[in-house]
Order: sequence, then structure tokens, then C-alpha cells
Amino acid sequence: MTSSAANTAPQKKAILHYNGKVIDLPILQGSCGPEVLDIRNLYNETGLFTFDPGFTATASCESKITFIDGEEGVLLYRGYHIQELAEHSNFMEVAYLLLYGDLPTEAQRGDFIRNVTTHTMVHEQITSFFRGFRRDAHPMAIMVGVVGALSAFYHDSLDINDPVQREIASYRLVAKIPTLAAMAYKYSLGQPFIFPLNKLSYAENFLHMMFAVPCEEYHVNPILSRAIDRIFILHADHEQNASTSTVRLAGSSGANPFACIASGIAALWGPAHGGANEAVLNMLAEIEYPGNIQKFIAKAKDKNDPFRLMGFGHRVYKNYDPRATIMRETCYDVLKELNIKDNPLFDLAMELEHIAMNDEYFIERKLYPNVDFYSGIIFKALGIPVSMFTVLFAIARTVGWVAQWKEMIADPTQKIGRPRQLYTGIESRKYKPVSERK
Ligand code: CMC
Repeated sequence: MTSSAANTAPQKKAILHYNGKVIDLPILQGSCGPEVLDIRNLYNETGLFTFDPGFTATASCESKITFIDGEEGVLLYRGYHIQELAEHSNFMEVAYLLLYGDLPTEAQRGDFIRNVTTHTMVHEQITSFFRGFRRDAHPMAIMVGVVGALSAFYHDSLDINDPVQREIASYRLVAKIPTLAAMAYKYSLGQPFIFPLNKLSYAENFLHMMFAVPCEEYHVNPILSRAIDRIFILHADHEQNASTSTVRLAGSSGANPFACIASGIAALWGPAHGGANEAVLNMLAEIEYPGNIQKFIAKAKDKNDPFRLMGFGHRVYKNYDPRATIMRETCYDVLKELNIKDNPLFDLAMELEHIAMNDEYFIERKLYPNVDFYSGIIFKALGIPVSMFTVLFAIARTVGWVAQWKEMIADPTQKIGRPRQLYTGIESRKYKPVSERK
């Protein structure tokens, strides 16, 4: 950890008494958030490891990108509140902000958009790679494969020690991920791949590649593209979550950026993380109508039942997820703008939220709706197929993963991530030839 932002306050330390020794543990202070106990010398001085499965009390790195105050329900990208960015900014500006630390000037924004749009096409050979998948493959399975495979196509941006190559890889990833996502969808339909159209915005271009067909003109509905752009902003980064930590861990070994982002996509796919948006829709379909809600709430509370209310709860937020609030408003706006008067799914979700928020089990555990609770309903209203929900999350989060990966690689104190363990297996035993084994 560098000492630029996290200053060691010499007057503040924790003292550990262990085995007759007194050990000082410095307290580090970030610019916001809880103080952090610096245990880097703990093992050398005491021979002790710390035990923290799930990293519930561990800061794995120093970062200047995103801050969450889980108690207050606050999310900041580089110091800007998510609400302000969602209302006034757009995804390309936010991407620049996350990657470079400040909102761009007009000239910087123009250059950035030009750089992204000149990397939107993929190597033609990648189309053959797609054809190796079954038509019914889940698009996230395809994304894990093809994004990792980019490292087999772009050899000139694999050297992580060269800042220029890192920059090119960053542009390639941010630019090509919507193209690959739309190709995964087109492949599942058996429709021809649609080339990117660089006069369109990032969100418009994605919708164009998803929904255009070569035989007809396609006009992007501005309501849809604005909603997608906003959803991309909300999903762009979220500090050291499971997929971002996976990207950092993979990257810490010196793996190339395309392989690292593929590992992030794999981690995101799980239903406890980004896969929750798809799981919410499946859950609402299963609940079917308001009369069934209590039955599912009872299942979620039953410790002998693995069922959980999808789209509820968060490791960090113990308050309303601010992204969920914006998502619910966006959902409402989209349904209104699309003139969808009766949306039983939205009504069912509202009712479920209301019942859960008034239930002692959820109140006691501070389980609030998270970002994934409403996103699926908007995606569905926008005509995005359910299997693509988590893919849209991955498109948006790519910029966060890349920003976090770049920050890590540029940190001179960066080391390979290598946790230890509490071993509880057999101590030591002698090898027996097969004839002596019982
Ligand atoms: N439904 C029912 N009970 C729950 C839920 C839920 N969705 N979430 C947590 N709990 C209970 C849990 O059983 C535990 O109860 P107890 O203290 O009696 O054992 C308590 O609340 C604390 O839960 P935890 O599992 O220790 O919390 P965690 O921080 O390890 O897990 C979580 C966080 C998001 C994985 C979990 O809340 C969950 O599985 N939620 C449903 C999946 C979901 O919506 N995921 C999206 C997260 S936000 C977007 C993203 O990260 O990609």
C-alpha cells in the first residue's frame, strides 16, 4: 500500500499482546470510510495469520476510484455522487472519469470517444470462434470464452509493463465488449452479426448491433438508449466486489488484461453477484402473482431452504442501495415513456419489496433491494432477453474492471495476491502401497 492517500497516523495504533510480546499495529486512514488496521508485519512479528473468510473485514488494496458508505447508502465514483452522474452525465464521460480520475474537458471527451469508437470492430477470425459454440449456449458462457480469446488476437497489447500497450488494451476492452455481447445474442438467434456503427453513441451502437438486421433500417429509440446509458453508469464500478477482486487477483500474477477481464466475467456470472438480475426475473416468474409472495418470503426465511430473495441484501449496503433507488425511478420512467400502463411484473416487484421491507426478518438483517432488483424489469421492458441481463452488467462493469486493473498495475508496491489459510486437514502420514490400503 502506498502512503499517498492512506496516511499512517503515527499517533494512532492498536496494540496486540501475544505470547509475552507487545506488537504495535499502525492504523491507516483513508480519505473516507473506516480506519484500517495495518497487519502487513503481523506474521513476521508474531507468526500469526488473520482469518477472514469472505473478506468481511479485509481491505485488499488501496484505491482512489470508488467509495461506498454502506450504512448511509452512498456511492461515489472519483468523489462524484452516483445520483448526480446518473442525472447529468453519460456513460462515456463516466468511463473517462473512472479510468483517468477526472471528468473530461470537451476536447478530452472528443478524443476519448474517438479512441473508443475506432476500436469497436473485432478481428474477423473471431466470428469463426463464435461458430464453435452451441446455438443454445448461455451468452455469459460465450463471453467468458471470447473475451479471454481476445488475447489470442491482439498480441500487440499484451505487455502489461508497457503503459502504451496497457492503454490500447483498455480501449480495446471497453470498445469491443458491446460488439462481442451483441454477437453472442445474434448467434443465439441464428441472425447475421451486425457491424458497429461509429456515428452512434455507445448505448445506441449496442442497441443497433443487438436489434438491427441487414434487410431493414433500424432507428434507435432514444428512450431505450438513454435508459441503457443510465444503467451502464449505475453498473460501471463498485469497489472491491467479487468480480473486481478476481480481476485484480488474476492481474496480480502478471496475466494479460483480456484474460483478467474474462476472469471477472466468470465471477460476475454467479447468482449472488451479477447473475442476480437474471435470477430476479426467474424468481418473479415463479412467484407469478401477489397472492404467492408470502409463500416465497417464508421460503427465504427458512434456514433449511436454500432459496433467497434475489435482488435483496448486500455485503456492504445496510441501507437502500442508491443504485436501486435510481433503477426504480428509471423503471417507472421507462414504463411511462413506453406507454406501458399495466406491467404486472413491476407491480409484483413493488408488492414484494413492500412486504419484505415490512417483515421483521428483513428489517433486522438490514436486507434492502439492491441494484439487480429492478434492472431486470427495465431490461425486459426494453426488449432485452433475460439471458442477456448479466451480459449488460458485464459490458458496463468492464470499464470499472479495467480502471481497477490499471490502478493496480501502476502501483509500485503491487505484489502477487497470495492469501494464506487455516489448514485443518491431516497433519502428516506415510505413503502406503495399494496392497496395504483398506
Ligand atoms: N434472502 C434471504 N435472506 C438473506 C438474503 C436474501 N436475499 N440475503 C442475506 N440473507 C440473510 C442470510 O441468510 C443471513 O441470515 P442469518 O444472519 O440469519 O444467517 C443474513 O441475511 C446475512 O447474510 P449473509 O449471507 O451473511 O450476507 P453476505 O454479505 O455474505 O451476502 C449477498 C450478500 C448479496 C450475497 C446476499 O445478500 C444474497 O445472496 N442476496 C441475494 C443475491 C443478490 O441479490 N445478489 C446481488 C448483489 S448486488 C449486485 C452485485 O453484487 O452484483
